[in-house]
Amino acid sequence: MVRRIMKSIKRLAAGLARRLGLLAAATDAFLFLKTKPWKEVGRRAKTVDGIALPSASLRFSAAGTADEEWFLQSGRAGAEVLREVFEELPRDTEPARILDFGCGCGRVLRHVARWQDVTPFGIDWNPRAVRWCRNNLPRASVFRGGLGPPLPEVVADLDLVYAFSVFTHLPEDLQVAWLAELSSRLCERGRLVLSTMGDAFADQLTDAERTSYDQGRLVLREPSVAGTNVCAAYHPPGSLERLLPADLEVVRHVPEGARGNPPQDLVVVRKLSR
Ligand SMILES: C[S@@+](CC[C@H](N)C(=O)[O-])C[C@H]1O[C@@H](n2cnc3c(N)ncnc32)[C@H](O)[C@@H]1O
Repeated sequence: MVRRIMKSIKRLAAGLARRLGLLAAATDAFLFLKTKPWKEVGRRAKTVDGIALPSASLRFSAAGTADEEWFLQSGRAGAEVLREVFEELPRDTEPARILDFGCGCGRVLRHVARWQDVTPFGIDWNPRAVRWCRNNLPRASVFRGGLGPPLPEVVADLDLVYAFSVFTHLPEDLQVAWLAELSSRLCERGRLVLSTMGDAFADQLTDAERTSYDQGRLVLREPSVAGTNVCAAYHPPGSLERLLPADLEVVRHVPEGARGNPPQDLVVVRKLSR
């Protein structure tokens, strides 16, 4: 009974915070205070390679730790994975158009935005993260989006879209809606690169969740706070494929292959030509 009342209160509070545009900030603050990441923060360097470091709370929100070295090193590793996929792409026109979906405070985008052969875009629904990117990553066009589609009109004809640790925080209906939207903005033979929580996370699941996971079903926690780090989605092998629109196909699923987002899986998806 008490649990049911607490659940209803949580749902109401989440709904109110979302309407006020405060949900991302509220859950970030909750996790930040719970984890006390400032204990691991040393003296903060002002800029690295000419780009400012985001605040400890923004770094924590992106990477689950405020550690400066990890923020930089993991972002670089994520960008290297993308570069490998990018090099495989059939490209007719330069510069190629790249979208960081759920870019946060630019952990990966700060590296991708240095590539001279791309036009970089970013989008996130967290206003604080978007403000940081706009102020500090001038080469990238960064937008604030909603929790669901659409993308802004100018974000189209994309060669590559990536979403690191984003579909890991979305319930199934939003995953389906975003996969369709992202596909509609990819150019023919473009790629979508995602990271997911797969088998490496299975031991975090409760017995009931594990049973569902082993049956190949997506496992969701706290869908009422979709898009925040409190909401968690676990993808058993094959489950993402079932959410894809007909014009996307998985070309590579590498367990624990999302370097820079360990130990998440890497999923590379291809847009099919018509
Ligand atoms: C764990 S953080 C990862 C940030 C960044 N991708 C990285 O790897 O550093 C998840 C990010 O996804 C964003 N996000 C979640 N749902 C979203 C949605 N529906 N649209 C845009 N951004 C979203 C969150 O605001 C947050 O910045």
